[in-house]
Amino acid sequence: MRARRALLYMPGDDLRKIQKAAGLQVDCVVMDLEDAVATHCKDEARKVTASALGSLDFGGSERLVRINSFVSGQAEDDLRAVLPARPDGILLSKTTQPADLVRLDELIRRAEMEHGWPENSILMIAILENALGIVNLAEICRAGGSRLSALVCGGEDLAADMNAIRSRDARELFYARSAVVLHAAAFRLQAIDMVCTDFTDPGLAAQEARAGMQMGFSGKQIIHPNQVEPVQSAFTPDEDEIVYAMQIIRQFEHSIQNGHAAFALDGAMVDLPVVIRARSLLERARAGGKIE
Ligand code: COA
Ligand code: MG
Repeated sequence: MRARRALLYMPGDDLRKIQKAAGLQVDCVVMDLEDAVATHCKDEARKVTASALGSLDFGGSERLVRINSFVSGQAEDDLRAVLPARPDGILLSKTTQPADLVRLDELIRRAEMEHGWPENSILMIAILENALGIVNLAEICRAGGSRLSALVCGGEDLAADMNAIRSRDARELFYARSAVVLHAAAFRLQAIDMVCTDFTDPGLAAQEARAGMQMGFSGKQIIHPNQVEPVQSAFTPDEDEIVYAMQIIRQFEHSIQNGHAAFALDGAMVDLPVVIRARSLLERARAGGKIE
Protein backbone atom coordinates (compact mmCIF):
# COMPACT_ATOMS: atom_id res chain seq x y z
CA MET A 1 0.00 0.00 0.00
CA ARG A 2 1.16 3.54 -0.80
CA ALA A 3 2.56 5.54 2.13
CA ARG A 4 0.17 8.28 3.21
CA ARG A 5 2.02 9.54 6.28
CA ALA A 6 1.24 13.20 5.67
CA LEU A 7 -1.52 14.80 3.59
CA LEU A 8 -0.65 18.46 3.05
CA TYR A 9 -3.62 20.74 2.36
CA MET A 10 -3.63 24.09 0.67
CA PRO A 11 -6.41 26.30 -0.71
CA GLY A 12 -7.23 25.24 -4.27
CA ASP A 13 -7.15 28.85 -5.45
CA ASP A 14 -3.66 29.54 -4.06
CA LEU A 15 -1.31 28.68 -6.92
CA ARG A 16 1.76 29.80 -4.98
CA LYS A 17 1.09 27.28 -2.21
CA ILE A 18 0.27 24.53 -4.72
CA GLN A 19 3.59 25.19 -6.47
CA LYS A 20 5.43 25.14 -3.13
CA ALA A 21 3.74 21.88 -2.15
CA ALA A 22 4.60 20.29 -5.50
CA GLY A 23 8.27 20.86 -4.71
CA LEU A 24 8.13 19.22 -1.27
CA GLN A 25 8.88 15.58 -0.50
CA VAL A 26 5.43 15.03 0.96
CA ASP A 27 3.50 11.78 0.49
CA CYS A 28 0.23 13.50 -0.52
CA VAL A 29 -0.72 16.97 -1.71
CA VAL A 30 -4.38 17.91 -1.20
CA MET A 31 -5.72 20.85 -3.16
CA ASP A 32 -8.78 22.01 -1.25
CA LEU A 33 -12.02 23.18 -2.84
CA GLU A 34 -13.96 23.10 0.44
CA ASP A 35 -13.52 25.16 3.60
CA ALA A 36 -10.18 26.74 2.71
CA VAL A 37 -11.89 28.46 -0.23
CA ALA A 38 -14.36 31.35 0.15
CA THR A 39 -17.77 30.72 -1.44
CA HIS A 40 -17.30 33.36 -4.11
CA CYS A 41 -13.88 31.89 -5.06
CA LYS A 42 -15.03 28.30 -5.71
CA ASP A 43 -14.97 28.65 -9.51
CA GLU A 44 -11.53 30.19 -9.47
CA ALA A 45 -10.27 27.39 -7.17
CA ARG A 46 -11.65 24.74 -9.54
CA LYS A 47 -9.82 26.38 -12.47
CA VAL A 48 -6.53 26.84 -10.61
CA THR A 49 -6.61 23.28 -9.25
CA ALA A 50 -7.44 21.69 -12.61
CA SER A 51 -4.72 23.66 -14.33
CA ALA A 52 -2.14 22.83 -11.61
CA LEU A 53 -2.98 19.13 -11.99
CA GLY A 54 -2.42 19.38 -15.71
CA SER A 55 0.76 21.41 -15.68
CA LEU A 56 2.80 20.98 -12.47
CA ASP A 57 5.27 18.20 -11.69
CA PHE A 58 4.39 16.91 -8.21
CA GLY A 59 7.36 14.50 -8.13
CA GLY A 60 6.54 11.41 -6.10
CA SER A 61 3.63 13.05 -4.25
CA GLU A 62 0.13 11.73 -4.65
CA ARG A 63 -2.15 14.41 -6.22
CA LEU A 64 -5.45 14.64 -4.37
CA VAL A 65 -8.38 17.07 -4.42
CA ARG A 66 -10.77 17.67 -1.54
CA ILE A 67 -14.25 18.39 -2.87
CA ASN A 68 -17.29 19.92 -1.14
CA SER A 69 -19.94 17.64 0.32
CA PHE A 70 -22.91 16.53 -1.77
CA VAL A 71 -25.36 18.42 0.46
CA SER A 72 -23.54 21.67 -0.31
CA GLY A 73 -24.67 21.39 -3.94
CA GLN A 74 -21.06 22.10 -5.04
CA ALA A 75 -19.65 18.58 -5.36
CA GLU A 76 -20.83 17.93 -8.92
CA ASP A 77 -19.29 21.20 -10.18
CA ASP A 78 -16.05 20.38 -8.35
CA LEU A 79 -15.86 16.98 -10.02
CA ARG A 80 -16.79 18.29 -13.45
CA ALA A 81 -13.87 20.73 -13.22
CA VAL A 82 -11.13 18.50 -11.76
CA LEU A 83 -11.77 14.94 -12.97
CA PRO A 84 -10.72 15.67 -16.59
CA ALA A 85 -7.30 16.72 -15.16
CA ARG A 86 -6.98 13.19 -13.73
CA PRO A 87 -6.11 13.59 -10.04
CA ASP A 88 -4.91 10.45 -8.25
CA GLY A 89 -7.84 10.63 -5.85
CA ILE A 90 -10.77 12.59 -4.44
CA LEU A 91 -11.33 13.32 -0.76
CA LEU A 92 -15.03 13.70 0.01
CA SER A 93 -15.65 16.14 2.84
CA LYS A 94 -18.44 15.48 5.36
CA THR A 95 -19.06 11.90 4.27
CA THR A 96 -22.21 11.18 6.22
CA GLN A 97 -24.02 8.23 4.66
CA PRO A 98 -23.29 5.30 2.33
CA ALA A 99 -25.13 7.07 -0.54
CA ASP A 100 -22.40 9.75 -0.57
CA LEU A 101 -19.76 7.23 -1.63
CA VAL A 102 -22.11 5.40 -4.01
CA ARG A 103 -22.68 8.72 -5.79
CA LEU A 104 -19.00 9.68 -5.83
CA ASP A 105 -18.01 6.24 -7.12
CA GLU A 106 -20.56 6.54 -9.92
CA LEU A 107 -19.35 9.99 -11.03
CA ILE A 108 -15.70 8.93 -11.00
CA ARG A 109 -16.51 5.70 -12.86
CA ARG A 110 -18.30 7.72 -15.54
CA ALA A 111 -15.24 9.97 -16.00
CA GLU A 112 -12.93 6.96 -16.19
CA MET A 113 -15.10 5.42 -18.90
CA GLU A 114 -15.38 8.67 -20.87
CA HIS A 115 -11.60 9.14 -20.90
CA GLY A 116 -10.75 5.48 -21.39
CA TRP A 117 -8.84 5.32 -18.09
CA PRO A 118 -8.62 2.00 -16.23
CA GLU A 119 -11.40 1.32 -13.73
CA ASN A 120 -10.53 2.36 -10.16
CA SER A 121 -7.55 4.41 -11.32
CA ILE A 122 -8.92 7.42 -9.40
CA LEU A 123 -9.39 6.52 -5.75
CA MET A 124 -11.76 7.81 -3.07
CA ILE A 125 -10.92 8.89 0.46
CA ALA A 126 -13.79 9.56 2.87
CA ILE A 127 -13.53 12.33 5.44
CA LEU A 128 -15.52 11.59 8.59
CA GLU A 129 -16.18 14.85 10.34
CA ASN A 130 -19.69 14.81 11.67
CA ALA A 131 -21.45 12.69 14.26
CA LEU A 132 -23.68 10.90 11.77
CA GLY A 133 -20.68 9.94 9.65
CA ILE A 134 -19.05 8.25 12.65
CA VAL A 135 -22.30 6.47 13.57
CA ASN A 136 -22.65 5.21 9.95
CA LEU A 137 -19.01 4.11 9.57
CA ALA A 138 -19.56 0.41 8.80
CA GLU A 139 -22.14 1.09 6.07
CA ILE A 140 -19.98 3.86 4.62
CA CYS A 141 -16.96 1.50 4.40
CA ARG A 142 -19.10 -1.20 2.77
CA ALA A 143 -20.48 1.28 0.22
CA GLY A 144 -16.97 2.48 -0.66
CA GLY A 145 -16.05 -0.84 -2.26
CA SER A 146 -12.68 -1.28 -3.89
CA ARG A 147 -12.30 2.39 -4.84
CA LEU A 148 -12.21 3.48 -1.19
CA SER A 149 -8.60 3.65 0.03
CA ALA A 150 -8.60 5.52 3.32
CA LEU A 151 -10.69 7.10 6.06
CA VAL A 152 -9.83 10.53 7.37
CA CYS A 153 -10.87 11.85 10.76
CA GLY A 154 -11.73 15.57 10.65
CA GLY A 155 -11.24 16.72 14.23
CA GLU A 156 -12.33 20.34 14.19
CA ASP A 157 -15.63 19.90 12.36
CA LEU A 158 -16.40 16.81 14.39
CA ALA A 159 -15.82 18.60 17.68
CA ALA A 160 -18.12 21.40 16.50
CA ASP A 161 -20.82 18.92 15.45
CA MET A 162 -20.55 17.14 18.82
CA ASN A 163 -20.63 20.36 20.82
CA ALA A 164 -17.27 19.37 22.27
CA ILE A 165 -14.59 21.80 23.38
CA ARG A 166 -11.20 21.01 21.85
CA SER A 167 -8.43 20.18 24.29
CA ARG A 168 -4.69 19.70 23.76
CA ASP A 169 -4.79 15.91 24.24
CA ALA A 170 -8.03 15.58 22.20
CA ARG A 171 -9.71 13.37 24.78
CA GLU A 172 -13.12 14.60 23.58
CA LEU A 173 -12.34 13.02 20.16
CA PHE A 174 -10.85 9.76 21.38
CA TYR A 175 -13.92 7.62 20.73
CA ALA A 176 -14.45 8.98 17.21
CA ARG A 177 -10.76 8.72 16.25
CA SER A 178 -10.64 5.20 17.58
CA ALA A 179 -13.82 4.31 15.67
CA VAL A 180 -12.17 5.53 12.47
CA VAL A 181 -9.06 3.40 13.12
CA LEU A 182 -11.15 0.33 13.99
CA HIS A 183 -13.31 0.55 10.87
CA ALA A 184 -10.29 1.22 8.68
CA ALA A 185 -8.65 -1.92 10.05
CA ALA A 186 -11.82 -3.98 9.60
CA PHE A 187 -12.15 -2.94 5.95
CA ARG A 188 -8.40 -2.96 5.18
CA LEU A 189 -8.20 0.82 4.66
CA GLN A 190 -5.68 3.38 5.81
CA ALA A 191 -6.66 5.70 8.68
CA ILE A 192 -5.58 9.35 8.58
CA ASP A 193 -5.63 11.44 11.75
CA MET A 194 -6.89 14.98 12.41
CA VAL A 195 -5.01 18.23 11.71
CA CYS A 196 -2.72 19.88 14.25
CA THR A 197 -3.89 23.46 13.71
CA ASP A 198 -0.98 25.04 15.60
CA PHE A 199 1.54 25.11 12.76
CA THR A 200 4.02 27.30 14.63
CA ASP A 201 5.15 24.36 16.77
CA PRO A 202 6.34 21.43 14.61
CA GLY A 203 7.17 19.51 17.80
CA LEU A 204 3.49 19.47 18.69
CA ALA A 205 2.59 18.02 15.29
CA ALA A 206 5.21 15.29 15.83
CA GLN A 207 3.86 14.54 19.30
CA GLU A 208 0.29 14.29 17.96
CA ALA A 209 1.49 12.12 15.08
CA ARG A 210 3.16 9.67 17.49
CA ALA A 211 0.01 9.52 19.63
CA GLY A 212 -2.05 8.86 16.49
CA MET A 213 0.35 6.18 15.30
CA GLN A 214 0.01 4.39 18.66
CA MET A 215 -3.76 4.35 18.13
CA GLY A 216 -3.31 2.74 14.70
CA PHE A 217 -3.40 5.72 12.36
CA SER A 218 -1.13 5.40 9.31
CA GLY A 219 -0.91 9.13 8.62
CA LYS A 220 -2.01 12.62 9.52
CA GLN A 221 -3.48 15.66 7.79
CA ILE A 222 -1.21 18.69 7.84
CA ILE A 223 -1.62 22.33 6.83
CA HIS A 224 1.88 23.80 6.73
CA PRO A 225 5.24 22.84 5.14
CA ASN A 226 6.97 22.84 8.52
CA GLN A 227 4.77 19.90 9.60
CA VAL A 228 5.90 17.63 6.72
CA GLU A 229 9.18 16.35 8.13
CA PRO A 230 8.15 15.89 11.78
CA VAL A 231 4.93 14.09 10.85
CA GLN A 232 6.44 11.84 8.16
CA SER A 233 9.30 10.79 10.42
CA ALA A 234 6.90 10.07 13.28
CA PHE A 235 5.16 7.53 11.01
CA THR A 236 8.42 6.01 9.77
CA PRO A 237 10.08 3.33 11.91
CA ASP A 238 13.70 4.07 12.89
CA GLU A 239 16.73 1.79 12.34
CA ASP A 240 16.54 0.16 15.80
CA GLU A 241 12.86 -0.68 15.38
CA ILE A 242 13.51 -2.15 11.93
CA VAL A 243 16.42 -4.31 13.14
CA TYR A 244 14.37 -5.54 16.12
CA ALA A 245 11.36 -6.38 13.94
CA MET A 246 13.58 -8.36 11.57
CA GLN A 247 15.06 -10.23 14.54
CA ILE A 248 11.59 -11.13 15.83
CA ILE A 249 10.54 -12.50 12.44
CA ARG A 250 13.80 -14.48 11.96
CA GLN A 251 13.67 -16.05 15.43
CA PHE A 252 9.96 -16.83 15.07
CA GLU A 253 10.59 -18.76 11.85
CA HIS A 254 13.41 -20.65 13.56
CA SER A 255 11.25 -21.33 16.62
CA ILE A 256 8.32 -22.59 14.52
CA GLN A 257 10.64 -25.02 12.72
CA ASN A 258 11.54 -26.42 16.14
CA GLY A 259 7.86 -26.80 17.01
CA HIS A 260 7.49 -23.76 19.32
CA ALA A 261 4.97 -21.03 18.47
CA ALA A 262 6.02 -18.90 21.45
CA PHE A 263 9.52 -18.02 22.63
CA ALA A 264 11.32 -15.49 24.80
CA LEU A 265 13.23 -12.52 23.43
CA ASP A 266 14.87 -10.00 25.80
CA GLY A 267 12.69 -11.17 28.67
CA ALA A 268 9.38 -10.82 26.81
CA MET A 269 7.19 -13.40 25.11
CA VAL A 270 7.01 -13.42 21.33
CA ASP A 271 4.11 -15.18 19.64
CA LEU A 272 2.06 -14.64 16.49
CA PRO A 273 0.46 -11.24 17.31
CA VAL A 274 3.93 -9.81 18.08
CA VAL A 275 5.17 -11.18 14.76
CA ILE A 276 2.20 -9.65 12.92
CA ARG A 277 3.02 -6.26 14.45
CA ALA A 278 6.68 -6.68 13.44
CA ARG A 279 5.61 -7.47 9.86
CA SER A 280 3.38 -4.40 9.72
CA LEU A 281 6.23 -2.23 11.07
CA LEU A 282 8.41 -3.50 8.22
CA GLU A 283 5.61 -2.71 5.79
CA ARG A 284 5.58 0.87 7.10
CA ALA A 285 9.38 1.01 6.77
CA ARG A 286 9.08 -0.23 3.18
CA ALA A 287 6.32 2.28 2.34
CA GLY A 288 8.47 5.03 3.84
CA GLY A 289 11.41 3.99 1.65
CA LYS A 290 13.61 2.82 4.59
CA ILE A 291 13.98 -0.75 3.32
CA GLU A 292 13.58 -2.52 -0.03
N1 COA B 1 1.07 24.45 1.44
C1 COA B 1 2.10 24.93 0.72
N2 COA B 1 2.81 26.03 1.08
C2 COA B 1 2.43 26.64 2.21
C3 COA B 1 1.37 26.20 2.99
C4 COA B 1 0.66 25.05 2.57
N3 COA B 1 -0.37 24.54 3.26
N4 COA B 1 1.23 27.00 4.07
C5 COA B 1 2.19 27.94 3.97
N5 COA B 1 2.92 27.73 2.85
C6 COA B 1 4.07 28.51 2.39
C7 COA B 1 3.73 29.98 2.28
O1 COA B 1 3.28 30.29 0.99
C8 COA B 1 5.05 30.63 2.63
O2 COA B 1 5.89 30.66 1.51
P1 COA B 1 6.22 32.06 0.76
O3 COA B 1 6.59 33.03 1.84
O4 COA B 1 7.35 31.70 -0.15
O5 COA B 1 4.97 32.40 0.04
C9 COA B 1 5.71 29.67 3.58
O6 COA B 1 5.09 28.42 3.37
C10 COA B 1 5.56 30.09 5.02
O7 COA B 1 4.21 30.31 5.30
P2 COA B 1 3.75 31.13 6.58
O8 COA B 1 4.01 32.58 6.36
O9 COA B 1 4.32 30.49 7.79
O10 COA B 1 2.21 30.85 6.61
P3 COA B 1 1.05 31.73 5.96
O11 COA B 1 0.68 32.81 6.91
O12 COA B 1 1.43 32.12 4.57
O13 COA B 1 -0.14 30.68 5.88
C11 COA B 1 -1.93 29.32 6.60
C12 COA B 1 -0.71 30.13 7.05
C13 COA B 1 -2.52 28.58 7.78
C14 COA B 1 -2.96 30.27 5.99
C15 COA B 1 -1.43 28.33 5.51
O14 COA B 1 -0.49 27.51 6.10
C16 COA B 1 -2.51 27.52 4.83
O15 COA B 1 -3.17 28.01 3.93
N6 COA B 1 -2.66 26.24 5.22
C17 COA B 1 -3.60 25.35 4.61
C18 COA B 1 -5.04 25.70 4.95
C19 COA B 1 -5.98 24.68 4.41
O16 COA B 1 -5.87 24.24 3.28
N7 COA B 1 -6.97 24.27 5.21
C20 COA B 1 -7.91 23.26 4.82
C21 COA B 1 -7.63 21.94 5.42
S1 COA B 1 -7.82 21.90 7.17
MG1 MG C 1 -13.47 20.73 7.63
